[in-house]
Amino acid sequence: MSLRKIYYLLPAYLRFTVRRIVFLPQDIWTSIFGNNELMPPKGLIFTGSGDFIELGNKLVNSLKVHCQLKPNHAVLDIGSGIGRVAIPLTKYLDKEGRYDGFDVIKTGIDWCQRHITPNHPNFQFHYVPLKNDLYRESGNNAADFVFPYNDNSFDCVVLTSVFTHMLPGEIENYLGEIQRVLKKGGKCFVTFFILNADAKKFISKNNHFNFPFSKGHYSLMDEKVKGANVAFEEGYLEEVFLQKKLKVYAKYLGYWAGREKDKTVDFQDVIILEK
Ligand SMILES: C[S@@+](CC[C@H](N)C(=O)[O-])C[C@H]1O[C@@H](n2cnc3c(N)ncnc32)[C@H](O)[C@@H]1O
Repeated sequence: MSLRKIYYLLPAYLRFTVRRIVFLPQDIWTSIFGNNELMPPKGLIFTGSGDFIELGNKLVNSLKVHCQLKPNHAVLDIGSGIGRVAIPLTKYLDKEGRYDGFDVIKTGIDWCQRHITPNHPNFQFHYVPLKNDLYRESGNNAADFVFPYNDNSFDCVVLTSVFTHMLPGEIENYLGEIQRVLKKGGKCFVTFFILNADAKKFISKNNHFNFPFSKGHYSLMDEKVKGANVAFEEGYLEEVFLQKKLKVYAKYLGYWAGREKDKTVDFQDVIILEK
């Protein structure tokens, strides 16, 4: 049984505790001898593996290149985690710029409110108690959630590795809300696992990263933990974008399914939507 499968077998709250314990010695060491760089303790980074700072810088660079992000822009970070995108943005957005992030995990929001907002009051973080079976067992339904922001109020919306953990009714609601809060001409940087003929050919040969549970226009990696990883049929996504009046401005398929890394922008598939 793979480590990934064992991890999914644990209840959501235990996944956080295990991570905290595993990294505790390293976090104590860093708190005494570290270089004071703005970064959460490793044991609190519940949002995935890889180099937290390097990946955050890469994402912000992608926003500049693919969404024409400017220092005075207003950014909404959906599923803001524990500040991976917010931290590098503090060095890019100026005083006229603005950042709002929201997430269903309070620990991440609390850490960002304590460590980022005091020095950057134009960075605000908002906890929303919504259910997601990978991250928390209870909560309200994300398919009914109305974002707490005004219409036409953001130049850029970003979701990195968030719709890869959400189900169709939820992403349909979120895409409608994204359309509502984006300014006209504003861009949304969003990552997915997209199923098309090409991706299916690749994953049929991959035993480690695939989506064996087909549910029609989406497929699951783990049938018991639905939010573990979710992939969507390309045709379904195109229909939803059309229905929600969001134009596909650009699409960069990722290397998750086995494409050559050098020829891709990211591990996940990236779509840039425009209002
Ligand atoms: C893989 S993490 C990525 C976090 C962050 N975007 C990053 O790149 O570091 C997925 C995030 O989505 C959040 N999430 C899950 N369901 C959500 C929902 N319905 N609304 C907002 N955030 C959600 C999780 O709590 C988690 O922080």
